[in-house]
Amino acid sequence: MELNKPFNIKNGELFIDNYRILDIVSKYNTPLILYSADIIRDNYDNLYKNFKEYYKNFSIKYAVKANSNLAILSLLNKLGSGVDVSSIGEIYLAKSAGINYDKMLFSPNNIDINEFKYAIKNNIAINFDDINQFTMLKKFPDKISFRINPGIGKGEFKEITTGGRKSKFGINVDTAIDAYKLAKSKGIKHFGIHMMAGSNSLNNEYFISVADKFFDIAGIISKKAEITFDFIDIGGGFGIPYRENDKPLNINHISKNIIKNLKSKLNDYDLGNPELNIEPGRYIAGNSAIALGKIYNIKRYYDNFAGTDLNMDIFLRIPLYKAHHNIEIINKFNIEKNFKANIVGNICENTDKLGSNIYIPEPEINDIIAVYNAGAYVSSMGNNYNGRLKPLEVLYDNNNFYVIRKRDNLKDLAINMKIPDYLR
Ligand SMILES: Cc1ncc(COP(=O)(O)O)c(C=O)c1O
Repeated sequence: MELNKPFNIKNGELFIDNYRILDIVSKYNTPLILYSADIIRDNYDNLYKNFKEYYKNFSIKYAVKANSNLAILSLLNKLGSGVDVSSIGEIYLAKSAGINYDKMLFSPNNIDINEFKYAIKNNIAINFDDINQFTMLKKFPDKISFRINPGIGKGEFKEITTGGRKSKFGINVDTAIDAYKLAKSKGIKHFGIHMMAGSNSLNNEYFISVADKFFDIAGIISKKAEITFDFIDIGGGFGIPYRENDKPLNINHISKNIIKNLKSKLNDYDLGNPELNIEPGRYIAGNSAIALGKIYNIKRYYDNFAGTDLNMDIFLRIPLYKAHHNIEIINKFNIEKNFKANIVGNICENTDKLGSNIYIPEPEINDIIAVYNAGAYVSSMGNNYNGRLKPLEVLYDNNNFYVIRKRDNLKDLAINMKIPDYLR
């Protein structure tokens, strides 16, 4: 499976530009997540330029949940991105990275009123997941929207399909009409409308058809609730190739057709010229990083196991959805893959398998492995189960390496814990 530049393979060995990854690992040790800033920029530009070419009133709201590292948020801020934030914690992180509140859309679900109050105090636009959460409030930000469940959705796994009847997210059209009417009666003047129907789809036509359905929904709501929209947000979900035969999305085809349909529906329903927003997370950050780990043990009993320090605490998405990530030994690209192995971590769970029955070159202890596509939903979903320390993260940009997250230390594990006096 190909990695994007600046990652490259020379003489069977992995490099980033002209730097040997083996040398980087010697310097920083494992486990390590290594990001390329250029890949993030390229992914952002690819989405931005394609949509912007066809529709000027367009902006990207990067989904912070995909990767909330302050350096990555700052990089996206410099590119002009806004953000989709799902919690007070993500608001805090985005603000700490220099992102202004007016570039945030807050899309929480099932939260306490105090979290809303924090957003309202800072006049952050709120995207309500339900009408009940809206009715809890007396004060509002200038701009609000509701998350619509368009009745369909598509994600790589059922667990990340967030539209359709089985999804906990959003409201149906009839409820939305009541919700917008109610909001109007409370004096709110600026509205958006939002959907997010699934994550990691590689089906070009799906994005076009679900957006088209959503534009009709927006038109109907606008007519029935007698409101107009400042923004129409079609969410994220743009997938990336994780498997050998996965085909990348054709963003130009998607954007061209989404905008063609948008323009015609804006005209049909007299919707004016709202801002179009997308909320990509994975597409921007996913392929920007590899995770690097060391093989500490090799077992050849009933089955073959290569035991590493990359584990399910780092790759929660693997046990959670049975997600697939390509795995390579970084200095054995020229060696035949004839060893069938399970690549496992150091956690006391049998779900701690990064790769099940995959073919790799004959492994040796101290070999370094790279797990691809480690930029999205890896660090942000990481945890300390089994008392394992979250890994070091390094950003490579223009011939420089920057530590953007220190490795956890042992004290971090207990930082918020307290022993009551009577137990001392
Ligand atoms: C509201 C919202 N927007 C955007 C995203 C980003 O999705 P993706 O990373 O698939 O683009 C998510 C992810 O679940 C989401 O919940």
